[in-house]
Amino acid sequence: MTGSKRVGVLGSGDVAKQLGRGFASRGYDVMLGTREPKKLEAWRREVGGTVSVGSFAEAAAHGELVVLATHGAATEAVLELAGPTRFRAKVVIDATNPLDFSRGMPPGLLFGLTDSLGERVQRKLPEATVVKCFNTVGSLKMVDPRFSSGPARMWICGNDAGAKKVVEGILKEFGWAGALDVGGIDGARWLEAMVPLWLRAGQALQTWEHVLQVVR
Ligand SMILES: NC(=O)c1ccc[n+]([C@@H]2O[C@H](COP(=O)([O-])OP(=O)(O)OC[C@H]3O[C@@H](n4cnc5c(N)ncnc54)[C@H](OP(=O)(O)O)[C@@H]3O)[C@@H](O)[C@H]2O)c1
Repeated sequence: MTGSKRVGVLGSGDVAKQLGRGFASRGYDVMLGTREPKKLEAWRREVGGTVSVGSFAEAAAHGELVVLATHGAATEAVLELAGPTRFRAKVVIDATNPLDFSRGMPPGLLFGLTDSLGERVQRKLPEATVVKCFNTVGSLKMVDPRFSSGPARMWICGNDAGAKKVVEGILKEFGWAGALDVGGIDGARWLEAMVPLWLRAGQALQTWEHVLQVVR
């Protein structure tokens, strides 16, 4: 771990709680952000250590590194609530998915295949370096993942090589074999499109503890 680096996690759902717990377990100073801090009080007490809860703006300001773990359709509104200038010069890990459940399961994608939430986040935060990461696995497998087939790599993409190196370091701290980097943030179109496929595979295999991998 690199000192007591401060991490802001925007979100209060399963992803924010798992990643928040993961960062705290590695000694990071974590703040989760939500519109309703009270609802995370039990989680905060349970995790202990250096974890706190605040507003979206407070969590964004707290983090030297910021994680986005908000509902896909609300993510851009959350960035407005948090204040885009609070992300300036920071690495932003985007774990969100723009899933469209309006026609039921399996979902479609809110922005089709000619745009992505990862790109929209990067456009909204032009002074931050956004890395898409963690969006292709279930929350229970994000930290200390164990797969019967052995160690796995996490799919990532983003425009900045330095930011991706930081994120790969975190992946290794969390127990991943490393990153599978598919290039610039436009790769988020395909990492987000993997999720309806991941859901279909989960339905076929009756599990939510799988990860899509390349073998050769
Ligand atoms: N669940 C998984 O296993 C999984 C795996 C990979 C990726 N993802 C992606 O990760 C993200 C988080 O997923 P999740 O299941 O943990 O939680 P979620 O239920 O998708 O999102 C919860 C968060 O979204 C915020 N939110 C919802 N509607 C809002 C609105 N109208 N305005 C402002 N904020 C709003 C909530 O804010 P408050 O805190 O204020 O209520 C909360 O922080 C999603 O984009 C999801 O697709 C999920």
